[in-house]
Amino acid sequence: MSARRVIVVGGAGAIGRVVCEVLAGDGFAVTVADVRGQEDVAAALTGGGHDALRLDITDLDAVLAALGPDGSHRDYDALVVAAGLNYTGPVATTDWAAYDRVLEVNLRGPFHVGHALSRNLAADPRECSAVFFSSTAGLTGEGGASVYAASKFGVIGFTQCLASEIARHGGRANAVCPGNIDSPMLRTLADQVAEREGRRGEEVLREFAGATAFDRLIDIREVADAVAFLAGARSTGISGQSLVIDGPPR
Ligand SMILES: NC(=O)c1ccc[n+]([C@@H]2O[C@H](COP(=O)([O-])OP(=O)(O)OC[C@H]3O[C@@H](n4cnc5c(N)ncnc54)[C@H](O)[C@@H]3O)[C@@H](O)[C@H]2O)c1
Repeated sequence: MSARRVIVVGGAGAIGRVVCEVLAGDGFAVTVADVRGQEDVAAALTGGGHDALRLDITDLDAVLAALGPDGSHRDYDALVVAAGLNYTGPVATTDWAAYDRVLEVNLRGPFHVGHALSRNLAADPRECSAVFFSSTAGLTGEGGASVYAASKFGVIGFTQCLASEIARHGGRANAVCPGNIDSPMLRTLADQVAEREGRRGEEVLREFAGATAFDRLIDIREVADAVAFLAGARSTGISGQSLVIDGPPR
């Protein structure tokens, strides 16, 4: 039996690359798709059958040319969309260029992938699992997070609708909602919040870590393991769901 093939978009990012490593370790043939760094990540994976793909998910034609029914990489069994951008700041001082960019990458990008997936599965029905990255910011809003939260709330709504539409062709779609992850994105956010509030980044990071009863940040590997479960054939009874990867409330 040939290996299950997965495309990981945003596969060269901090979380995406660990997702690629875990999936490769689980025996998947991994296509690392990103706008930068994808070759290096693919070359470092264990096992065989991996490749790299330069893919900008904001480019619908490029997404269809790779993942659509006649696409260069159409024979996938799973898709992970981990591409994403963060932006923080109050609604009153919204940077509209940043707003457009975040919504384009975080929401329109996954929409492009879902569009290609829907058309691919209609042409070639099969068991196939898509995992889209939302966030705990996609479940609960908080001051300063409006643009990012809007995009991540959108991902959850989109994923639920997509899941209903592709079920008859064998497809599944789920969202993951990581909380405060020990990652460069979170450290940058902590520094930005600290600057706005006249505090130290380390202090804000410590608050992030203490936000749940775990009293620690979540490790990227813990996110990747959850994603691998949803992408794999051991979760075939799960679709249209949002899996929170975070500690319980204090
Ligand atoms: N890091 C966290 O604390 C955290 C928490 C919750 C959710 N998330 C979400 O998890 C996902 C991964 O986050 P991360 O920490 O790895 O971020 P990251 O910035 O390290 O990685 C994001 C990746 O997306 C790629 N990317 C950006 N624009 C792209 C485009 N147009 N087409 C294709 N790829 C593109 C980047 O090149 C990068 O490799 C994101 O969706 C993020 O919003 C992160």
